[in-house]
Amino acid sequence: MSTYELIDELEAGELSVAFEGEEPQALLAWAIERFSPRIAISTAFQLDGVALIDMAYEIDPQIRVFSVDTGRLPEETYELIERLRERYPGLSLELLSPRAEEVSRMVGRHGPNLFYRSVENRLLCCRVRKVLPLTRHLATLDAWVTGLRRDQWASRSDIRKVEIDHDHGAIVKLNPLAEWTEEEVWQYVRERELPVHPLYERGYTSIGCAPCTRPVAPGEPARAGRWWWETNAPKECGIHCAIETGGMEHELRAIVGEEDGG
Ligand code: ADX
Ligand code: SF4
Repeated sequence: MSTYELIDELEAGELSVAFEGEEPQALLAWAIERFSPRIAISTAFQLDGVALIDMAYEIDPQIRVFSVDTGRLPEETYELIERLRERYPGLSLELLSPRAEEVSRMVGRHGPNLFYRSVENRLLCCRVRKVLPLTRHLATLDAWVTGLRRDQWASRSDIRKVEIDHDHGAIVKLNPLAEWTEEEVWQYVRERELPVHPLYERGYTSIGCAPCTRPVAPGEPARAGRWWWETNAPKECGIHCAIETGGMEHELRAIVGEEDGG
């Protein structure tokens, strides 16, 4: 049982205004105080995720951190996880996996690299490997923290620092880095000498699963290397906005049954 009131749209709006212009740590400290232990940091071990872990661990070393290990992450992501475990002793870091039987059904029907063949296939893979495990985990929380920033992509340009996440049971979604630029995150990471994902040195600017991420050319937008073969598709996996397409939903039911995870 929670010992506090969950917040509504009105309060979320007021809090967003109040924390605008404040440092990310101010929002994190407030949220940890209010929602612990039913709050967790989500990370994909990119720059933003590492900065958030650092800030939150400093406020509360017991802070819960989780990441969905899709099973297709680059080896370098695991190297970084090991370095983070050394840097933050006792860090509560949960790696969530997709359900083996669902992955197996999907791969059996469509092959392991289904995502290259159509946007619907790609969204199906993202749903099974990433969105569903995340959604199941969020059902155990009252608040989650993300590394989303407004400068990442057009679909993120109007995010607020405090939102009610209607795609995930109306829990609270906190985006402490919303108003930081990529450069500001780099500055924080460099000043604190934090371990960073090894692929940044090789021209990657946004890092997800190995088969779906590549380096970008100078001048290309940061997320251009994600699902680079797709045109006219959202550069989103469905964690931060529900993406539904008829064919994919039908196939999803064949793979996961009636449960759609939220
Ligand atoms: S994604 O939708 O394209 O994958 P992106 O990689 O930009 O998202 O990450 C944005 C934020 O989403 C991260 O800072 C993190 O909060 C959350 N996130 C993304 N991928 C994961 C993951 N695999 N596990 C947990 N959180 C994630
Ligand atoms: Fe599947 Fe690619 Fe999405 Fe990873 S990013 S879950 S491999 S489609």
